[in-house]
Amino acid sequence: MTAAFFAGYGGSDKATSGDAKGVKVGVSMPTKSLQRWNQDGANMEKKLREKGYDVDLQFAENKVETQVSQIENMITKGCKVLVVGSIDGSALSSVLNEAKSAGVEVIAYDRLIMNTDAVSYYATFDNYLVGKIQGQYIADRLGLAEGKGPFNIEISTGPMDDNNVNFFFGGAMDVLKPYIDKGQLVVRLGQMTREQCATPNWDEAKAQERMDNILTTYYTGAKLDAVLCSNDSVSLGVQSALKSAGYNTADRPMPVITGQDANLPNVKAIVAGEQSMSVFKDTRALADQVVKMVDAILAKQQPEVNNTKDYNNGVKVVPSYLLEPKFVDKSNYKQLLIDSGYYTEAELQK
Ligand code: BGC
Repeated sequence: MTAAFFAGYGGSDKATSGDAKGVKVGVSMPTKSLQRWNQDGANMEKKLREKGYDVDLQFAENKVETQVSQIENMITKGCKVLVVGSIDGSALSSVLNEAKSAGVEVIAYDRLIMNTDAVSYYATFDNYLVGKIQGQYIADRLGLAEGKGPFNIEISTGPMDDNNVNFFFGGAMDVLKPYIDKGQLVVRLGQMTREQCATPNWDEAKAQERMDNILTTYYTGAKLDAVLCSNDSVSLGVQSALKSAGYNTADRPMPVITGQDANLPNVKAIVAGEQSMSVFKDTRALADQVVKMVDAILAKQQPEVNNTKDYNNGVKVVPSYLLEPKFVDKSNYKQLLIDSGYYTEAELQK
């Protein structure tokens, strides 16, 4: 943290729990359909309430119109700060203009909000590092740095409207592309661009359908060695396709498969040896950081940020706080997920 980050600091009235009493904060989350957003929403609500804020928490079921009208309501109801996990990062410009005119400050939560100057701050995990960790995991498991190969790999990433995917995909491909160029990795399908490998809405069923087609068309008589999956829902879809095609048996083990979020079904799959790894993003830490941002904004102070160059939303570089993601696999899940209280052993047994 440099002094420059605080250069704009002009406020003197400090935030205290007392000041927070009754101040309304809106938390708009994309969907309940994926475990992580439920955790994110619950953590935010709990931590804000503990500070004395009044919280309006809404989930938009992955429908942009629903999210827009929920945000409009939050503005009308007098929320002073909005924390928004966007569905389509480019679809909120006009509603956020309303927020700006009403003097409401906006924090982009996990996903950057694009093409608007109405977003003040961004808190997320280091999304490029998420991709790098996934790519490196595949490289290490296959022994690519030692020159091993050729291996067959396929790629399945997230939707075009999620800005994070640029970083997830970019980080992973920065590791894997050199091995593709050298012929140590072969993409039989031939699809290697973000567009070609996209999964609309991060939808598990769509990822499964695409992998079903890939396996039928390109892998009868050939073995798939690795699948880069950008998150856990995509990973689960891919795993179902592989199992229906006869993988996950003694003579046809699952390929190396990545994921992200450490969702419960995926951690179970890791323990069962069906998914190789996931990237753990501790949603408790993200919520803590965002609550600190809310406090600082309302005290007219400059929130803590640690990146002021990478997250350009098309209109401005949004000052960001990036947290560190960690890989989780069979070797460290107990320490990372159980010992830290993220999950209980019992939840993993269910
Ligand atoms: C988040 C991931 C999540 C995905 C699907 C991304 O923007 O960063 O953690 O898996 O959305 O909800």
